[in-house]
Amino acid sequence: MKTVVITGANRGLGLEFCRQYSQADWQVIAYCRQPEHADELNALSQNYPNLHIFALDVTDHDNIDALAAELETDIDVFISNAGIYGDTVGHGFGNLDYTAWQHTLNTNVISAMKLAEAFSPHLGRGPQGLFVAISSLMGSIADNGGGGSILYRSSKAALNAAMKSLAIDLTPQQIGVLIFHPGWVRTDMGGPNGLINAEESITGMRHIIENFELSQSGQFIKYDGTPMPW
Ligand SMILES: NC(=O)c1ccc[n+]([C@@H]2O[C@H](COP(=O)([O-])OP(=O)(O)OC[C@H]3O[C@@H](n4cnc5c(N)ncnc54)[C@H](OP(=O)(O)O)[C@@H]3O)[C@@H](O)[C@H]2O)c1
Repeated sequence: MKTVVITGANRGLGLEFCRQYSQADWQVIAYCRQPEHADELNALSQNYPNLHIFALDVTDHDNIDALAAELETDIDVFISNAGIYGDTVGHGFGNLDYTAWQHTLNTNVISAMKLAEAFSPHLGRGPQGLFVAISSLMGSIADNGGGGSILYRSSKAALNAAMKSLAIDLTPQQIGVLIFHPGWVRTDMGGPNGLINAEESITGMRHIIENFELSQSGQFIKYDGTPMPW
């Protein structure tokens, strides 16, 4: 049985990752901030004994270290999915909220690297581990024609840069890294006007994960495999 770890597992894309991997008979380690309020995830675990839920706030590095220390299983795929938008109405250029910016960077960038550091030993024990970062096309500098969203865009651009280096650094250990744009998805973050639903996004990313080869490590791609501009 293969093992996948997913952060931000209680709603949106994280929940759909849990649903699909549970159905596919993987061992699913689901991390979310408040398991006691994760109603849909808890309901899912009633049907799937292969789904295990633990508390994790990804900005809490001690929490990350403790979970990594207590996890005995090898990991095949680690999905760093938890993220926030950060930007709020009224806080664009001229009135930026610097506390919110630091929190956005902590959540979207620094946590991903901390998770990779803490869990890479588990990924390295299997035949070929894969660390997946859920980024965004909004982190693309080349694609930025609209401006704004300074907190979110900068956090995802930084995530991309960090993950690209991680891909190179982990290759000798046979651990791959993929950076995904999941599409514009109808979730709490994506809103009701998103172009696709979570099922389509996750089905696409799972297909790419399934067929991953180490030579692809460090790619920034859309859920359907289309290369994304940096
Ligand atoms: N939806 C889109 O169109 C879209 C497009 C591009 C990229 N993305 C990226 O896809 C990922 C998932 O987005 P989504 O659409 O599923 O968003 P979402 O519905 O807003 O869900 C975000 C998830 O992240 C969790 N989270 C936030 N801060 C956390 C923290 N400090 N510790 C642990 N968990 C935390 C949330 O948990 P709580 O319930 O506890 O808040 C929730 O489970 C994000 O990285 C996002 O940037 C989404």
